[in-house]
Amino acid sequence: MADKLQRSDVTLDTIVSLCKRRGIIFPGSDIYGGLQGTFDYGPVGAELKRNVKNAWWRSMVQERFDIEGVDTSLLLHPAVWTASGHVENFTDPLCDSLGPSRKRYRADHIEETECAKFVLVDVTDNAAPKTLDTEIWAPTKKKAKEFFQQWYEKALGLEGRRVKIEEVEGSRTTGRFSPDDGGRLTEARQFNLMLSTTLGPVEESSAKVFLRPETAQGIFINYENARATARRKLPFGIAQQGKSFRNEITPRNFIFRTREFEQMEMEFFCKPGEFCKEGEQSDMEWFEFWRNERLQWYIRYGIQPANLRFYDHPKEKLSHYSRGTTDIEYLYPIGWQELEGIAHRGNFDLTQHMEHSGKDLRYFDPDANTHYVPYVIEPAAGVDRAMLAFLCDAYREEIVTSGEEGEGGKESRRVVLGLHKDLAPVKAAVFPLLKNRPELVETAKKIAADLKRFTNAVYDDTAAIGKLYRRQDEIGTPFCVTVDVDSMEDQAVTVRERDSMQQVRIPLDRVVAYLRDQLQG
Ligand code: GAP
Repeated sequence: MADKLQRSDVTLDTIVSLCKRRGIIFPGSDIYGGLQGTFDYGPVGAELKRNVKNAWWRSMVQERFDIEGVDTSLLLHPAVWTASGHVENFTDPLCDSLGPSRKRYRADHIEETECAKFVLVDVTDNAAPKTLDTEIWAPTKKKAKEFFQQWYEKALGLEGRRVKIEEVEGSRTTGRFSPDDGGRLTEARQFNLMLSTTLGPVEESSAKVFLRPETAQGIFINYENARATARRKLPFGIAQQGKSFRNEITPRNFIFRTREFEQMEMEFFCKPGEFCKEGEQSDMEWFEFWRNERLQWYIRYGIQPANLRFYDHPKEKLSHYSRGTTDIEYLYPIGWQELEGIAHRGNFDLTQHMEHSGKDLRYFDPDANTHYVPYVIEPAAGVDRAMLAFLCDAYREEIVTSGEEGEGGKESRRVVLGLHKDLAPVKAAVFPLLKNRPELVETAKKIAADLKRFTNAVYDDTAAIGKLYRRQDEIGTPFCVTVDVDSMEDQAVTVRERDSMQQVRIPLDRVVAYLRDQLQG
């Protein structure tokens, strides 16, 4: 094997194209031309997503003694969002281009650039040149010309006319302009990101409800129900996975920022430091603990440590509820970006819900013999962003040299998703070497059926073996099993491992147990 594709060479386009080709992720509402900010998971993607969620649930709920799981509604009482501060504060600054594209932007996503003002002079009639009442802001004349050709020429009915683009002397300045059409931008205004719908058959304002923008609030409003019924003392956590909706101004970068996405959140309720006895972990120690625990989770499931880092939010940029937030960032092909946030929410949410609902959500601490509102540490991950990180990190292209695998002795290229076996959508694929030999087909189908009893296995005979291996490599299948002509003689099959491409001969009556050991070991 040689020439492995370096991690930094993987582009988002490569991942998007693999996802489409292999049934992992499709654009949402594709046959109707798509719906911006939505994506659909295909047969392979649905398995991968389920595995990511299961891996999180296993480590955050099932492997721990101090966390309970819940599954709360997407639609919550409107008062929840007033109490949580989302009605007032869950906003992004929005601005529009005054140029012909009329594009909308998140004002804080537009970088300041040095631009000059360009004007258009219609010189079709040489004797009477006419300066038009339009301005284009661009760093260079070349760029202004591009904007003109793409947007202004048609919009202003100037096709077929001779137009000169002239820089206005002394106009060069640093500011924010539309990067798409060079238009001036409107003043930023705050835009609430919550999506709403109406409950009941009559569309009236009193029935307006929000689709949850985070799963966390469903946990806070059930805190006391869950704590009391699970008979929990502090510290303990409540975890939940599920859909969230945000009317993002500029959904982009594939599944990185979408309008409908899934979250995996855990609210860890703990004692404020001042109530801790000697030897008890304080809120700040739990914050530290969960930062590291969550980072290790990504490494445990195969992300290279060099592609992960912490980013501590500066105090002035904290969310309205936060006393401190650290992001776990991943080096996506688009650069370092937030993968998960770990926030110290203090007692903000429970205090707000006490005030707005009138219910007492204080905790009676039998050790300190007093009541107080617990502090909360929240690791909040996105399923889709985690999937994108796992896909990018697992992607590699390799040149397979002659003799390593049956490709007629030639060099060939293979794409491999080196996914952790727990995340791999298909765990084992079984093929008959010849599909016109009923005994081979029957044996292969029987092995696949036996494997299916405990894992996701497939049977495939729709191509030659080399091609079938490549297809499975591309979706990250850890093992392929081939039933060949010799199998009928020696009662054994070939098991081929994805990464090493090594093949071993395993007795037919041992192959299922062998794969179970490999997959579960
Ligand atoms: N309860 C806290 C909370 O929701 P957040 O940082 O806004 O915090 C947590 O969201 C995680 O949810 C993010 O780190 C990201 O992985 C994911 N996420 C947020 N907005 C998203 C979007 N528009 N598209 C995809 N994932 C998103």
